[in-house]
Amino acid sequence: MIKPIIMAGGFGTRLWPLSRQLFPKQFLALDGERSLLQTTIKRLNNIPHQSPTIICNEQHRFVVAEQLRTSEALDANILLEPKAKNTAPALALAAFDALQRGDDPILLVLASDHMIKKETSFLSAVEKAKTLAEKEKLVTFGVIPTKAETGFGYIKLGHAVADGFNVEQFVEKPDLETAKLYFNSKQYYWNSGMFMFKASVYLNELETFRPDIFEVCKAAFETQKSDIDFYRYDNDIFESCPDESIDYAVMENTKAAVVVPLDAQWSDVGSWSSLWDIEAKDDHGNVCKGDVLALNTKNSLISSNDRLVATIGLDDVVIVDTKDALLVSKRSEVQQVKNIVAELNVQG
Ligand code: GDD
Ligand code: MG
Repeated sequence: MIKPIIMAGGFGTRLWPLSRQLFPKQFLALDGERSLLQTTIKRLNNIPHQSPTIICNEQHRFVVAEQLRTSEALDANILLEPKAKNTAPALALAAFDALQRGDDPILLVLASDHMIKKETSFLSAVEKAKTLAEKEKLVTFGVIPTKAETGFGYIKLGHAVADGFNVEQFVEKPDLETAKLYFNSKQYYWNSGMFMFKASVYLNELETFRPDIFEVCKAAFETQKSDIDFYRYDNDIFESCPDESIDYAVMENTKAAVVVPLDAQWSDVGSWSSLWDIEAKDDHGNVCKGDVLALNTKNSLISSNDRLVATIGLDDVVIVDTKDALLVSKRSEVQQVKNIVAELNVQG
């Protein structure tokens, strides 16, 4: 049976000021009552699966536990990293843990901060991926690119296999020139950041390509301790782990990668403009959340948390109002929010 692993240790800085260090984007209810993490868990309802594992940062443990409780995901295990070291080490801990609990389950690795509007397409892609993962492949889910985005991994399609394609080349976050070439060539998919593989297959590939990360994580896993709610690892050992994503550590190097196409209105909600892209708009092209009165305003995203926000005569803007910070930006420049967050971190 499939073992879901949900990665929930990111900081989601590009959705500031709603997303904060202590309450990042995966815990926000951007789409209504459920948070992105809770929606990710609910999405598993139609897939037969073992109890899910959530791997996250120590400092978010209570938010995660509370969100799982209110999702009635009481059987989930919560693994805590003492420090964020990116996804390659996080998944190594989760894979060691899964191996210990069962006989080499197929891991369905999910980001906790994505939106998928067409759930049935997602379910059928997972079915296809499962067959390939059983054959010792590392499966990615590929999305047709809509622009030359530099924040994604790019997958060059090789020859067709069963329900997918071999991966001829995997390039994580290319520069803009390269992203343009890939986009125009129409030979690449975006990596959606979700994966499927046997726990042992991931660990073997990690040991081959990044023995340094593998060894530290193995040593850290040997210190795993559990209390009632959480699993923890030795701080000093894990602290010495190199910081690296699965994409650079394994996916760029492995020869066993395959890609299953995913046409499910997927979005990684990477920025306010990508949220505007995916959300339903009113007759004027606006996405309004909370108490908003938008007069003669077009193609904008306006979000209010606890007071009325009123606009007049604006086009293509993003306005996000929270209790202690207000963001006002051109929609086309809202990616620069990360510079504001960097500036605030320097000041703080
Ligand atoms: N447990 C844990 N620990 N989770 C983490 C950590 C960590 O240190 N860092 C990130 N995560 C979680 C995030 O919360 C998110 O759910 C997921 O892992 C992916 O991390 P991101 O930081 O959001 O990755 P990315 O968006 O830059 O890139 C990945 O996703 C893209 C698609 O959205 C890559 O896989 C790209 O290739 C891909 O295109
Ligand atoms: Mg992401």
